[in-house]
Amino acid sequence: MLQLTHLIKSLYLLLLHFNINYSSSPPIHLNISMQSVNMKHILIWSPWQVSCSTVNYTVQFQGEYELHKLNGTWVDAYDCQEISENQCDLTSDLASNSDYCIRVMTKCDNKTIWTQLPLPFNRRNTVLLAPEMTTVIEGDLVQVGFSTILPDMTVYMESWSEGDEQNALIHVIRNFPYHFSIATHRGEKMCFRAEVLVEAINKSCSIHTRCISTPKTADFGILVTVSIAVVVVVALAIFLGCSATCFGPYIKQTICHREPLPNVLVSVFLTSLTIPAQISKKPLIFLIEKSSHTHKMFQTICFVC
Ligand SMILES: *[C@@H]1O[C@H](CO)[C@@H](O)[C@H](O)[C@H]1NC(C)=O
Ligand SMILES: *[C@@H]1O[C@H](CO)[C@@H](O)[C@H](O)[C@H]1NC(C)=O
Ligand SMILES: *[C@@H]1O[C@H](CO)[C@@H](O)[C@H](O)[C@H]1NC(C)=O
Ligand SMILES: *[C@@H]1O[C@H](CO)[C@@H](O)[C@H](O)[C@H]1NC(C)=O
Ligand SMILES: *[C@@H]1O[C@H](CO)[C@@H](O)[C@H](O)[C@H]1NC(C)=O
Repeated sequence: MLQLTHLIKSLYLLLLHFNINYSSSPPIHLNISMQSVNMKHILIWSPWQVSCSTVNYTVQFQGEYELHKLNGTWVDAYDCQEISENQCDLTSDLASNSDYCIRVMTKCDNKTIWTQLPLPFNRRNTVLLAPEMTTVIEGDLVQVGFSTILPDMTVYMESWSEGDEQNALIHVIRNFPYHFSIATHRGEKMCFRAEVLVEAINKSCSIHTRCISTPKTADFGILVTVSIAVVVVVALAIFLGCSATCFGPYIKQTICHREPLPNVLVSVFLTSLTIPAQISKKPLIFLIEKSSHTHKMFQTICFVC
């Protein structure tokens, strides 16, 4: 009985010893993991828990080439030598579809501790997130853009007018943003769907169907509106000018009787008047610019009347 009590007591003391000495001791290895999204590979690790006066980290990797052809040598990660941060961007280092072993060396004062990523990393395991697709209509053109553009990215986009999916057009897009004409589909509802392929890793993700209404008329409508506006404003200017000259001697006194207008100004105004007649997208700008010269216009029109 005494022996049993003694044994229990010894066991208890042993347990207490373990509790005090080991349970609160920090982990002696780092918790390393790879976060790879859209072909950007970031190695992250937990901070070193043991107190040291200086601590820094060095990252190395070993691909299948180094393992089999270079006798198992390790390569220093370009940007991650004796760094104090707890992460390392390995995007440019892990540039093939090889399986990579990755390890981090912790330097704590004069100790070095190696920790290896539990499983080899292959960039084919990157998580591809479908980018946002934007479609903007500019006249007869649709501009297609994507929120993220990865190197080596090809987009296979289908476009069709609603209800005619079997005749969808396939666009192979490698340059961004991409433009194509919808002149023959004016006024229809256009639908788009896309598949984003990153050829280097032969991995793809889908962008779901979206439909947009296209305007019935293109720039032509705007052009007509602008032309009408120009005609109205010029007519108004002539009317005001003439009424000032012909019906209002008092107004004429105040508006028209200034110093005689030099011939240069007359010719400048007459030349500029001919500009809106040309069909161009500029007339609106012209009008805004010229409105500050209304005073000069009145002078000229009075002169002509
Ligand atoms: C290790 O880190 C990963 C990612 O940060 C986390 O999900 C996991 O819980 C951590 N494991 C431990 C044992 O701390
Ligand atoms: C490869 O490593 C072994 C021992 O690890 C060594 O004997 C051999 O010389 C090395 N070969 C080359 C080419 O470095
Ligand atoms: C990294 O830590 C080691 C040992 O603590 C130290 O000798 C070395 O100078 C440190 N490197 C940098 C860049 O701080
Ligand atoms: C380095 O290690 C030696 C023993 O290996 C120890 O005596 C010395 O104090 C250590 N230096 C530092 C700066 O920790
Ligand atoms: C790419 O992956 C597809 C399946 O997702 C497969 O059918 C095709 O053969 C692969 N191409 C290459 C070049 O590996």
